[in-house]
Amino acid sequence: MAQIFDRSSNALARMSLVLTGLIVISLGVTLDQLQRSPWVTRQGQRPDQPVPFSHKHHVQGLGLQCQYCHTSVEKSSYAGIPPTKTCINCHSQIWTNANLLEPVRKSWATNESIVWTKVHDLPDYVYFNHSIHVNKGLGCSSCHGRVDLMPLMYQQNTLQMEWCLNCHRDPAKNLRPVSQAYNMAWEGPSKEKPVWCSVSDEKTGKPTAQSVDCQTSEPGKVEVASLSMAGITLPTMANYTKFTSQRELGNYLIDHYKIRKPNELSSCEVCHR
Ligand code: HEC
Ligand code: HEC
Ligand code: HEC
Ligand code: HEC
Ligand code: HEC
Repeated sequence: MAQIFDRSSNALARMSLVLTGLIVISLGVTLDQLQRSPWVTRQGQRPDQPVPFSHKHHVQGLGLQCQYCHTSVEKSSYAGIPPTKTCINCHSQIWTNANLLEPVRKSWATNESIVWTKVHDLPDYVYFNHSIHVNKGLGCSSCHGRVDLMPLMYQQNTLQMEWCLNCHRDPAKNLRPVSQAYNMAWEGPSKEKPVWCSVSDEKTGKPTAQSVDCQTSEPGKVEVASLSMAGITLPTMANYTKFTSQRELGNYLIDHYKIRKPNELSSCEVCHR
């Protein structure tokens, strides 16, 4: 044999083994990257919609609240997409002849709902619930980004398991006062912009997220001038705690909103029931 295959072919065989190895590895890496790529996760894509609805115009421009259209977001697992009636409230008077709105008028006339293409769509084997997130100190923008600046809706985050777990393992970095859930520009406290919180109702023994009161202006400060002029004694500020970092505020809210421990929140049954 040694005569038929000379020394160089031995080297060739070794070489091709190495090459095959490299190809397998790079294929693996490519598939993994593909799985995380926006093409698979649909991150950033703006699917065609029957009507080019602009959140920027309706939220930032007209000042409409999210709940005006996504009525069930605080109460149920689904945020919900508004029925045609919600659009007609205004569009029976505004832009009544615009071609862009023809599908809305048609839907109203025929009583057939507009078929919107889903932008966010978790697989069926994943359980998700809006109300628990919104009532435990997460804002729409933590998961959906600056919706108020989106002319057309897109998915800001991957919605992959890793993304959910990244927060479930350390919610403190994202928690905010429940009262700020709809504030698209919320940034968390800093030295320049502190947040003050106090807990009421503790006597009932069961503080809920709603019994934590947080505010972004110093408690009592605004009223000081007018109240003292009226000769009224000021309320004590002693029970307010001042926060100047997201970490401190996050830890405080974890306690008072009764957020479960990271290991409980990352166990499989939470999301795969
Ligand atoms: C005037 C009604 C209206 C208001 C106000 C509104 N939305 Fe929407 N929203 C819609 C409609 C209609 C759709 C479906 C079409 C689309 O995806 O653009 C939608 C879609 C969405 C989606 C994507 C749904 C999917 O398919 O995955 C998100 C997320 C969303 N809205 C968040 C918000 C947030 C956050 C606010 C407040 C800042 C808000 N919306 C305010 C009407 C509204
Ligand atoms: C509170 C009133 C109000 C509601 C509710 C409302 N719109 Fe509008 N919409 C407006 C106004 C006002 C304009 C004109 C905005 C402008 O030109 O700045 C507009 C503009 C539009 C336009 C033209 C493109 C644009 O964004 O400027 C579309 C399309 C549209 N709306 C779709 C919808 C749909 C679909 C719904 C229901 C999900 C809806 N609107 C609900 C008031 C409303
Ligand atoms: C913890 C992350 C998170 C927060 C906070 C959050 N969402 Fe969502 N939202 C999601 C996910 C994930 C989906 C996709 C759900 C699915 O496919 O079953 C979604 C879907 C939606 C949809 C599509 C319709 C539906 O109900 O599935 C709308 C509309 C929406 N969100 C609006 C909002 C609004 C408004 C807020 C703030 C009040 C908000 N979301 C807060 C993660 C979040
Ligand atoms: C930005 C932070 C954040 C993100 C992102 C997030 N969650 Fe959560 N999630 C929380 C917090 C906080 C709670 C409330 C924990 C508590 O009350 O103990 C929670 C609770 C839950 C619960 C518990 C509901 C119940 O009734 O027991 C489920 C299910 C859940 N999340 C699913 C998901 C899924 C699926 C995703 C990704 C698509 C996701 N979450 C993304 C922060 C987040
Ligand atoms: C906070 C929510 C959450 C928890 C906790 C969670 N998962 Fe997931 N899981 C998801 C989401 C969301 C997806 C869908 C990912 C996608 O669509 O890309 C998923 C997908 C999966 C898949 C499908 C394959 C894949 O990776 O896409 C498997 C298998 C899985 N999870 C197993 C588990 C196991 C085992 C645990 C416990 C150790 C667990 N998950 C805990 C949210 C969660």
